[in-house]
Amino acid sequence: MTPRIRTIAIGAAAAAAAAAGGYALGGPALAAYALLSTSLCGAAAVLWRQARRAEARQTRRDADLARLAEQVASLSQGLDRQHRSHEKSLRRLGERVGALGERIDLVPGETRRLALEGDRTAEIAAVLDDVRDGVASFPAKTRRLVREWNRMVYAEIEDLTALYRDIEPDRALPPLHGWAAGPDLARYLYRRVVEDGRTRVLECGSGSTTVVLAYALKSVGRGHVHALEHDPRFAEATRAMLKERGLDQWATVLDAPLTDVEVEGAPWRWYDPAVLPAAPIDLLLVDGPPGTTGPQARYPALPVLVDRLAEDAVVVLDDTRRDDEHRIGERWAERFEGWSLRSLPHDHGTIVLSREPKPEF
Ligand SMILES: C[S@@+](CC[C@H](N)C(=O)[O-])C[C@H]1O[C@@H](n2cnc3c(N)ncnc32)[C@H](O)[C@@H]1O
Repeated sequence: MTPRIRTIAIGAAAAAAAAAGGYALGGPALAAYALLSTSLCGAAAVLWRQARRAEARQTRRDADLARLAEQVASLSQGLDRQHRSHEKSLRRLGERVGALGERIDLVPGETRRLALEGDRTAEIAAVLDDVRDGVASFPAKTRRLVREWNRMVYAEIEDLTALYRDIEPDRALPPLHGWAAGPDLARYLYRRVVEDGRTRVLECGSGSTTVVLAYALKSVGRGHVHALEHDPRFAEATRAMLKERGLDQWATVLDAPLTDVEVEGAPWRWYDPAVLPAAPIDLLLVDGPPGTTGPQARYPALPVLVDRLAEDAVVVLDDTRRDDEHRIGERWAERFEGWSLRSLPHDHGTIVLSREPKPEF
């Protein structure tokens, strides 16, 4: 017997006993009075218990959020420390390179002096000049790279914190690094649903973004995300992430094995088109199949799906810092007339394609 059924049974038995006692002592009027007061007491006890549970849930949630805030604060402090230590190392490196530069400075003069012996030495001197300039520019270039890296990490922390604030999840969000999209892209997708009302979503490649998109759809109260997944293990893993967050109603992971697909007259390995949902799409995320399955593995997405896209659909391509994916974005923009391309400065690189607005007459 479940605890709920046991509670109801005990309550019913108590009410029946009170009514029977009341009847024996004072007839039907006292029986009705006893039944009513016992039921009221029972209802009050149930409400009190529910309130206690809700309070406990809220306390757990507050504790999770406080833990997250502590983690973000300690991450920021760590970054500050790293930043200072990088600066110190760079200064030391700059001094050493400067000293080296002074010694290298002597070499071209010396070589030129030897150039009297033949033309080749003059060429060597010019090469050495270039080497010296290259070495001299090294600390400034490294400083620029470190600054860029720091900016990126801070931006990721900002996006992750904002996502937690927007979603207020009951448990931690799934990983947003490594194989998964970063917090920058995850937040961009969340906003496309919540701010633009794009609720008919298709994803090529399931994972953490499926969960974030499902949260977004839950928050607007309509729509669905379908995620194509070629690997049954990862399909199951994504389903589990959705289930443990109570999001199954907002997302479906479709088992879509890679199969031979003909695209623009050429053979390709891509998701089995037979499993594609019929509904039109207004947000398409292209984040699979993985590049390990073949060159330009994600190219077929637009040729295969273009006829299923709503007029105002946006197509989001992840990982465009990699040459292969960047080329795919450019190839789509060249091949599909009327589509324009925008690059977003995300950590992994993101390209967004949308149809240009029609000219007004
Ligand atoms: C580039 S990942 C991105 C998946 C998803 N759009 C995201 O950002 O979370 C693409 C592929 O990674 C694989 N994948 C999914 N879950 C994974 C996991 N937990 N660990 C490793 N790989 C996973 C899947 O095969 C998926 O198609």
